[in-house]
Amino acid sequence: MTRRKSAAAGADLFGVDERLTVLPAGVALLPAFARDGDVDRYGDHIGEKALLSALNTVIEAAPLRHMVTPGGHAMSVAMTNCGRLGWVSDFAGYRYDPCDPDTGVPWPAMPSEFLELAVRAAQDAGYSGFVPDACLINRYEPGAKMSLHQDRNERDFDAPIVSLSLGLAAVFQFGGLERTDPVQKLTLTHGDVMVWGGPARLAYHGILPLKDGVHPVMGRMRMNLTFRKAG
Ligand code: SIN
Ligand code: FE2
Repeated sequence: MTRRKSAAAGADLFGVDERLTVLPAGVALLPAFARDGDVDRYGDHIGEKALLSALNTVIEAAPLRHMVTPGGHAMSVAMTNCGRLGWVSDFAGYRYDPCDPDTGVPWPAMPSEFLELAVRAAQDAGYSGFVPDACLINRYEPGAKMSLHQDRNERDFDAPIVSLSLGLAAVFQFGGLERTDPVQKLTLTHGDVMVWGGPARLAYHGILPLKDGVHPVMGRMRMNLTFRKAG
C-alpha cells in the first residue's frame, strides 16, 4: 500500500478516500456528472447522449472557428456559442454579443438540455437560482491550450461559472485572484462538471496543452462548455 499526499493541503490521506480533492471555497467538482452511466449518483438528470445531440445541432448552426485575440493571434481553441449572448474576441477586444459576427444572425438558442444540466449542477454545488444566458463552446485539439485568465466580461459576478468537460482528459489549472498565485492542477475527464463562484468567481484558470489521444465517444478532441450569466 502506498501513502499519498494531498497536493492542496499536504495532508496524509492514508486511510482516507484517495480520490479526495480539496478545493478552494466556492469551487465544486462534480465528477462524471453528465455521464449517462453515472447520473444516478446525483439523482435523475440529463446525460451525455442528449447533451451531445444538442451540441451537434448548435455547432451545425454556428460552426466552431478560431477567433483572433486583440493582439492579433488566432486562438488555438476553436469556439462558438449558444444562448442569448455569445463571447467573442477580435481586434477590438473581448465582449459578449447577441449575434454571431461571422453571419450577423443571433447565436443559436440555448438548448433546454444545456439549461437543465447547468441549473442542476449549479444547484448541487450550492448555487441555486443560477440561470445562464450564455454558453461558450470550446474545442481543443491535441496541443490546444488556454492561458491563465479570469472570466470577467460578464456584467455581474454574483452568478457562478458552470463548466462541462467532454472527450479527452485535460489538465485544468485553478489559481487565485492574482495571476501569479499558485495554481492547483485538476484533471478533468469526460462528463466532469466544475463550478466556481462566490470567493472563487474571479480566480485565474486555464488549460495546459491537450495531450494527444482518442476518446471513445468524442474522438481526438476535448470539448468544454461554460455556462455563464453574462447580461
Ligand atoms: C474557459 O475558461 O473558458 C474554458 C476552460 C476549460 O476549457 O475547461
Ligand atoms: Fe474561463
